[in-house]
Parts: sequence; structure tokens; C-alpha cells
Amino acid sequence: MLIARTRADLQAALADLPGRALVPTMGALHDGHLALVRAARAQAPVVTSIFVNPTQFGPNEDLARYPRDEPGDLARLRDAGCDLAFLPEVATIYPPDDASRVEVAGPALGWEGARRPGHFSGVATVVTRLFGLVRPRFAWFGEKDWQQLQVVRRMTEDLCLGVEINALPTVRAGDGLALSSRNRYLSAAERALAAALPRTCLAAIDAMRAGKPVPACCADAAASLSGLGFAVDYLALVDPASLREQHDLASPARLIVAARLGPVRLLDNFPV
Ligand code: PAF
Repeated sequence: MLIARTRADLQAALADLPGRALVPTMGALHDGHLALVRAARAQAPVVTSIFVNPTQFGPNEDLARYPRDEPGDLARLRDAGCDLAFLPEVATIYPPDDASRVEVAGPALGWEGARRPGHFSGVATVVTRLFGLVRPRFAWFGEKDWQQLQVVRRMTEDLCLGVEINALPTVRAGDGLALSSRNRYLSAAERALAAALPRTCLAAIDAMRAGKPVPACCADAAASLSGLGFAVDYLALVDPASLREQHDLASPARLIVAARLGPVRLLDNFPV
């Protein structure tokens, strides 16, 4: 596996990787990331970027303590068959005279977008720059960050970036908790409790399918999670692409949830 840290190293390495796929990550790689690398590898030569993107963190968020494990990540990428790891410095992505940002609306407006001002502009900006630097034919994202995936799809189409966006379903632990780099900050007790989040969402979906009104299912699920000790930010049924709230099962939908448990904000989503 090749490793590039500078723009010049990256351009030199890319010459041997035609029709490549990009897997953008912030590192602290888990099986969800590696599933993306393997799926991408089955399709094309793979570039994985590891870059903790400062512009997508708010002033009170965890940029400074976001988990980092470069040696472990590189070993995992090698095992997964990655061809090139791109590990830029902040100034490589955001040079000192940098003066441009990508603004996103539509699917970026509610939910995470409303609670984390500037977050999706930061994601859109870094993804656009990574696309510009790597010039991939394909890019792979996890469904775990459903709203992010819709923002990236919309932006890629709107800005005619010419990259095919592919996605894989969320990879889960045995008890159903969605894998996330931040799960390592849960205490043992919190980790055991965390599995109640997907369980409660799936029970809410069962109740919707059985005919209970959608708003009541969402409200009851949120109340049940609050009763267990989660601080629920939102739990809602939405249109899968626009992220607009949906009040019935007349068309395919997504149940989305964000809830804080101890130090960790857990995000999850399910097809309905
Ligand atoms: O999902 C992530 O890890 C990040 O938001 C991404 C897409 C790599 C952009 O920094």
C-alpha cells in the first residue's frame, strides 16, 4: 500500500490507479470503514483518505479529542487491500490563503444540520476538495450517517462533480449497536445500555407497520429512551432523500435518531 501525505506525493501515486474509488474517512477505522474499503476494492483501485476535518466540528465539539490511531489504521487498510492511503495535514486541504466553502441546503437543513451549524458545509467542503485532489470515479460512504450521505449525493449532482456515490448498510455489533469511532468513549455500563437505541427504533417501526400512528410511535420511542437515560435530540420518520419529516408509511421512509448517552452522541437510522 502506498502512503501519500502531500499533494505532490498524491498526484504521483494516482498515476498508477486509473478509474479509482475513494473512501473518505476521519480515521479510527472500524469494521464499517473496512467494509467500505473492501466493497470499493472489488470495483476499482482504492484510495482511502484519513483526515480529521476541522471545518465540520463546532467550537464546543470534540475535534481535539477525536480518536486517532494512525499505525493501527494503516495496518487495517493494508489488510483490507487498500491501494493508497492519503493522510494530509490540515494545511494541505486548507492552505493558508484558502477562501472558499461549499454551502449546502435541502437535505442538510434539519436534524444534524439544525443542531450542528456549519457541520454539513464543512463536510461538503472537505468532500469536494478530496474529490478534486483524488479525482475518483467512485466514492463510498456508510449509511450510518444517513443525512450526510444524502447531502453528499445532492451536492455531487448539483455541482456536477462526476463521481458515482456508492453506499453500504450500517455495520453493527452483535447486540445491534451501529459501529462508530466514538463508541470507544462509552463506559461499560453505557455500552451495554446503548443497544437499547436500535432495539427501541426497531420496535417503533414494528408498531408503525402494525398501524399505530407514526407520530405516536416516534414520541413513545423517544420517551422510552429518555426513561432509560438517553438524552434524545430527535427521533423522526423522514423522506429518505429530502429528509423532510413524514407522518405516515404511504411511501418508503427512514427512521432517524440522535441521542446522547454519557459523553457520546449516538446516531442511527433504519429503512421503513
Ligand atoms: O463520515 C466521515 O467520516 C466524515 O464526515 C467524512 C465524510 C470523511 C468527511 O470528513
